[in-house]
Amino acid sequence: MAQALLPVFSAFLLGLTLVSAYVEELDDKFNDFRKSEPWLVEFYAPWCEFCKTFEPIWYEVGAELKSLGSPVTVGKIDTTVYTNVATEYAIRGYPAIILLKGEKSYEYKGPRTKDGILEFTNRVAGPVVRSLTSAQLFQHATSRHDLFFLYIGGRSPLKGLYYKVAADFIIHNYFFSAPEDVLPKSVTLQEVPAVAVFKDGTYYVYNEEHDGNLSAWVDQERFRCYFQMDSFTLYQMGDRTKLVALTVLEEKNPSADSIRYKSLMEKVATEYRDHYKTDFQFGYMHGNDYINGFIMGELEIPSLIVMNMTIDGYYLPESKIETTEELLQFLSSVLDGQSQLLGGNGFLRRIKRMCYRLLTTIKTSYASAPFVTCFLFSLPLGLVLIIIWGMCTAVPVDDDSGEGALLAAGIRPEVKQRKGSAQKTIEAKKDD
Ligand SMILES: *[C@@H]1O[C@H](CO)[C@@H](O)[C@H](O)[C@H]1NC(C)=O
Ligand SMILES: *[C@@H]1O[C@H](CO)[C@@H](O)[C@H](O)[C@H]1NC(C)=O
Repeated sequence: MAQALLPVFSAFLLGLTLVSAYVEELDDKFNDFRKSEPWLVEFYAPWCEFCKTFEPIWYEVGAELKSLGSPVTVGKIDTTVYTNVATEYAIRGYPAIILLKGEKSYEYKGPRTKDGILEFTNRVAGPVVRSLTSAQLFQHATSRHDLFFLYIGGRSPLKGLYYKVAADFIIHNYFFSAPEDVLPKSVTLQEVPAVAVFKDGTYYVYNEEHDGNLSAWVDQERFRCYFQMDSFTLYQMGDRTKLVALTVLEEKNPSADSIRYKSLMEKVATEYRDHYKTDFQFGYMHGNDYINGFIMGELEIPSLIVMNMTIDGYYLPESKIETTEELLQFLSSVLDGQSQLLGGNGFLRRIKRMCYRLLTTIKTSYASAPFVTCFLFSLPLGLVLIIIWGMCTAVPVDDDSGEGALLAAGIRPEVKQRKGSAQKTIEAKKDD
């Protein structure tokens, strides 16, 4: 038995060594040679627990890119030693993942998964605009991507502009170009050259007169009409000019009520697309952990909520929504200011949020190193905490995943709160 296991075990060890061999440990001399080839770099800190959990994933990314023959070299750099590098790239949370290509740098903001990072790397490291030279390639793009932008036509000033905009948005989406005869008959264009977005089983053509400049239009169209959001997507909405209208439903096995809410919102999102496309981004989310942290309370499931991610504000319907009309009414009450804005990032709110983060940080480090944490934090922080606790009436925070370390580094998506512990009602929130 033991003998049979031996080769397996050594293969495992060998595998580990080989895998880590594809990630280079960098120092500050890195800047001298980084422009010669594309680099994918993890900026980490040795104290960051989440960086440690993330390490095997990073090694896998390195090994996979190598085996795919990617031109991208993978590295990592200790920002506590090379602080000047961290400053140069304005690193604010760990682990930060940045793709460096020529003069430009692109930060990855999605989930810390191998597939997510590989997809991002292949998209951003490749050509900014990829050409589709045949009908088959066009079909292929349609089947592979839920959403992509397409320039149709030959040389033109619009094409130059399209390339510029693509370079800014490649971090989020795919950009292609194609001659007109590659398109299927179902795509009809008033004029060529044109730019279109393909999504939600259809396509929309950019019209300069109606849509303003190309960059603003791409920014407006770069999400599907209605899709599943996670904390990372929501976080990205912070720098957008749209409110987020969200259905919040169960993590697993949605109830009949949840399904009804989900399709009600979807119906409004698709049927009223033209009416609402500048004001709302529609989506749904499984589980209420993130939202609970956001509103610092307990959101009932299922729920409909509208969020202003720029100011951490939100709106809730005053009564249960049953019909399309009621949902439309709620949305217009938000737009015309009839619905009350809750939350926000006023002074008190910010203090309260800080308490939340502090508590999460301590909780996270306690989970990974209980004795050290107790020893380090208990005396001085115990006192401070009691004071803060009283001031904020904040509830304890539970973090059941490693994501909490991002929070420790000041990144917002993982705001979490213990399920069921918040007895405060939404009504109570209105007071602050
Ligand atoms: C495009 O329009 C947006 C707002 O409508 C504006 O902020 C941006 O500067 C414009 N960009 C260009 C290149 O004109
Ligand atoms: C969010 O709130 C701020 C402040 O009230 C407002 O200026 C901004 O327009 C709102 N965002 C959206 C997308 O409505």
